[in-house]
Amino acid sequence: MTSTVIRGIGQLVTGEPALGDGLLGTRTNAAVVIDDGVVTWVGDSGAAPAADDAIDADGACVLPGFVDSHAHLVFAGDRTDEFSARMAGERYAAGGIRTTVAATRAATDDELRANVARLTAEMFRQGTTTVEIKSGYGLNVADEVRSLRIASEFTTETTFLGAHVVPAGSDPGEYVQLVTGEMLTACAPYARWADVFCEEGAFDVGAARKVLMAAKHAGLELRVHANQLRPGPGVQLAVELDAASADHCTYLSDDDVDALAHSGTVATLLPGVEFSTRSPFPDGRRLLSAGVRIALATDCNPGTSYTSSMPFCIALAVREMGLTCAEAVAAATSGGAEALRRSDVGRLAPGFRGDAIVLDTPRYEHLAYRPGVPLIRTVIRDGAKVST
Ligand code: NIG
Ligand code: FE
Repeated sequence: MTSTVIRGIGQLVTGEPALGDGLLGTRTNAAVVIDDGVVTWVGDSGAAPAADDAIDADGACVLPGFVDSHAHLVFAGDRTDEFSARMAGERYAAGGIRTTVAATRAATDDELRANVARLTAEMFRQGTTTVEIKSGYGLNVADEVRSLRIASEFTTETTFLGAHVVPAGSDPGEYVQLVTGEMLTACAPYARWADVFCEEGAFDVGAARKVLMAAKHAGLELRVHANQLRPGPGVQLAVELDAASADHCTYLSDDDVDALAHSGTVATLLPGVEFSTRSPFPDGRRLLSAGVRIALATDCNPGTSYTSSMPFCIALAVREMGLTCAEAVAAATSGGAEALRRSDVGRLAPGFRGDAIVLDTPRYEHLAYRPGVPLIRTVIRDGAKVST
């Protein structure tokens, strides 16, 4: 048994209101003990039990590792020109996905693996200790399976997104049959989740329901890309099928908000997308006031949000979505865990995994107050300091 104590914590974000003050359960002059990768003790620094290893936070803020519950990391190439055109006034069109599909199909396994390794390393340096990774740039049986096989080398939170768009040259009805049949059977062993892009230009509500029902039948849990580009039925479908998360939620009616508030479905907000597509940011305050549970994630992908940075998303959510600093940090940690239906990550409390971030600053608010500044000193995974 290996034990580690993190002591001298100026401000500890436990994420558990009962363990401290406010929404984030913050404490001052605190310590955390991690035994064999799991938090076993949280309390005053002076009262911390002895441990094999000690990490001195030296008065800094320590918070739970970020849980990035939405990312598309298995791809090749980038879409710089498309981004530049958008910044010059073009609108985002989901058809750009097909550009990345062509590049992904042409890449070798090692090239795809190296891209995922690069992006997960970027994420880790920025404090992400749990990440979800989707397929969705293969869109045929062989390339979807290899995308998920590669994703599963990096995380247990793998998501089958064969229903991202209908690939060029395919008939929509036949493609849905493929996704719900042979592709699902081949992909299910490598995936925990299934996702569908329910949107005009991608999959309508009938097709999306078929895909999700088939995936559920195959033992996968559900999440939905919903209401990203315009109002639509995606959120209601996610709630109807008890999906863990409805992601994007950029265009919501009052009925959508009400349905989310009375459901087990988390609304996952992806402010990197609004930043990078110049879309209006959804109103996080409206969701929280209605009692909706929210998560924040990067949506890291080469089309709509090529950022791997949870701190950037926290800063955007505070500035543009009406969240307080505490609400944004909660959404990026325990909110992400809820969106992945995980009860072992997202908090620094007894029973949770010892995944923590030591900041270079004394307060978590600095994540939004000092945007764009590399504030992360050390990342701890399973109780061990990992060099970034
Ligand atoms: O989450 N909306 C669908 N999928 C991605 C975009 C993918 C792309 O443009 O390559 C998203 O925004
Ligand atoms: Fe996405």
